Amino acid sequence: AMKQRLLVVANRLPVSAVRQGEDSWALEISAGGLVSALLGVKDVDAKWIGWAGVNVPDEVGQRALTKALAEKRCIPVFLDEEIVHQYYNGYCNNVLWPLFHYLGLPQEDRLATTRSFQSQFDAYKRANQMFADVVNQHYQEGDVVWCHDYHLMFLPKYLKEYNSNMKVGWFLHTPFPSSEIHRTLPSRSELLRSVLAADLVGFHTYDYARHFVSACTRILGLEGTPEGVEDQGRLTRVAAFPIGIDSDRFKRALELPAVKEHINELTQRFAGRKVMLGVDRLDMIKGIPQKILAFEKFLEENPTWRDKVVLLQIAVPTRTDVPEYQKLTSQVHEIVGRINGRFGTLTAVPIHHLDRSLDFYALCALYAVTDVALVTSLRDGMNLVSYEFVACQGEKKGVLVLSEFAGAAQSLGAGALLVNPWNITEVAASIGYALNMPADEREKRHRHNYAHVTTHTAQDWAETFVSELNDTVVEAQIRT
Ligand code: UDP
Ligand code: G6P
Repeated sequence: AMKQRLLVVANRLPVSAVRQGEDSWALEISAGGLVSALLGVKDVDAKWIGWAGVNVPDEVGQRALTKALAEKRCIPVFLDEEIVHQYYNGYCNNVLWPLFHYLGLPQEDRLATTRSFQSQFDAYKRANQMFADVVNQHYQEGDVVWCHDYHLMFLPKYLKEYNSNMKVGWFLHTPFPSSEIHRTLPSRSELLRSVLAADLVGFHTYDYARHFVSACTRILGLEGTPEGVEDQGRLTRVAAFPIGIDSDRFKRALELPAVKEHINELTQRFAGRKVMLGVDRLDMIKGIPQKILAFEKFLEENPTWRDKVVLLQIAVPTRTDVPEYQKLTSQVHEIVGRINGRFGTLTAVPIHHLDRSLDFYALCALYAVTDVALVTSLRDGMNLVSYEFVACQGEKKGVLVLSEFAGAAQSLGAGALLVNPWNITEVAASIGYALNMPADEREKRHRHNYAHVTTHTAQDWAETFVSELNDTVVEAQIRT
């Protein structure tokens, strides 16, 4: 039988384009959990449809980029500057993203945000229509179309308007908040209805799925069933599909001579000190200021540790045109500077803060030499960094300090030290506990996490979702 084709549609393509000349492009791997997870999925006949992260106003450039992307099985959606401003910077990342993570609207320009709401929402719909057009151009009968994330909540509706027989799934990589939060969105009903046009709707955790179903029952007055949401006899299946990583890819990397050498260098560089690590996009949901303040408190209360521990914080720049992200950047720099001034010496500082991304091998080496990883997200759909750290700790069996508000807390809760990231006293105490943890307890905790991370792969996640989507469509045909 011919393999079923999969069209993966996400705002962000796995590669981002950088222009080299009039008709030449360089492609770089994009950052973030969605891309990481989908890159871990193999052996499917998949094509990607999405935005290459760059404005290409001219036809020569568009044609050259389309060709370069085709080699990576990617198909571009070209968004102009104004759309990116209103849809991506505005509605997606200044409205939906903070709201879905329980952060509310940005404090300072709340009224401005409220005023620009309608025009941003219109742009959001226009952008979704542009994605739908490209999908429709490339769709062949029998294909499965898998839409991803909060950028594309209108896509299921638009696709079904083109072709009601299209198999459409939608997956959210962020939390779905309590219906009491979703209710505050002016466009609350339209967003829900558009998502419900999909055949299958997936979330990372059971709680997010439950929140979505109650938003549909309370806000739209529809019926929630154990299977999903029903509207006049038509069922939209809703379920939890916790994502995973390709742990073998990390284990293989650690065997490479170049990575081993890098591990040795790092080990020598930080000899005599315990290494603590944070790896996050520089996003307010990651709780980076809270993490650093907790580390400061730990140093304050434990003078003997001051020259024996170092915190390496990798903060990958992200969404840098959104004012809230710019504010966060300067806030973090200020705190780091103050603490390094306070506890640093002429030869060493307690915090190494990097405002840039790392390549895959450098990241693996860092994960491997770490004694304690600190994941303090205020909210996080899943958080793959915590999984990647565990996958690289086969030798060292370091400790994971993990926010109870990350989806990963539900899978790694038995092995990690769970914390409330808002409670700096508690996080500081957990840092101390982690640094002093005896080897047998570390091993036991690591074993729990490692077993989970190595058996719940990105591959399984994608296969389960797609086969559930196929089943759902078959069952719907039987019912009618
Ligand atoms: N990552 C990256 N570049 C870096 C550092 C990290 O692409 O310089 C990756 C990291 O390996 C992980 C992803 O970014 O796979 C972050 O995923 P996570 O789920 O932790 O958070 P998200 O960024 O999706 O909110
Ligand atoms: C999160 C979102 C993804 C997004 C990623 C990076 O993981 O769930 O959809 O791609 O962050 O953010 P960016 O805005 O650069 O795509």
